[in-house]
Amino acid sequence: MIEAMRITLIAVSVLALATGASSAIARDYEAGKKKAAEVCAACHGEDGNKPLTPDTPKLGGQYYDYLVHALEQYKNGKRQNPLMSPMAAPLSKEDIRDLSFYFSKQQGLDVRY
Ligand code: HEC
Repeated sequence: MIEAMRITLIAVSVLALATGASSAIARDYEAGKKKAAEVCAACHGEDGNKPLTPDTPKLGGQYYDYLVHALEQYKNGKRQNPLMSPMAAPLSKEDIRDLSFYFSKQQGLDVRY
């Protein structure tokens, strides 16, 4: 499962590099920060680093591409969770980019996967 996820992520990253997509897209750090504090901090904690429960993942320092991919999968139903799916559902593509950019720039995870 983890292996399959890694392969998918690598494929997504390579695609992003190949098309230059990630550098051409505007990502608004401040907008991400604001939304993160308003919505996501309730469960993931400040800066995505103090999750309220053991089964809520840390987001701080996670790769940008991983975060975008995870949020898109919750939004389109490929990944489902009773708490997280309703959080991702209302996010626009722009919200997803801003939030992922913000969380990827925080100190946090030492081990990325
Ligand atoms: C009601 C609590 C709650 C809120 C609010 C919430 N999340 Fe989550 N989030 C969770 C839980 C629980 C999981 C783990 C779900 C799973 O196992 O798939 C999760 C998982 C995630 C993941 C996957 C992380 C990984 O390592 O795979 C991302 C990305 C994420 N949340 C982003 C966000 C963002 C961005 C927001 C704000 C828009 C947010 N979450 C708001 C509870 C929440």
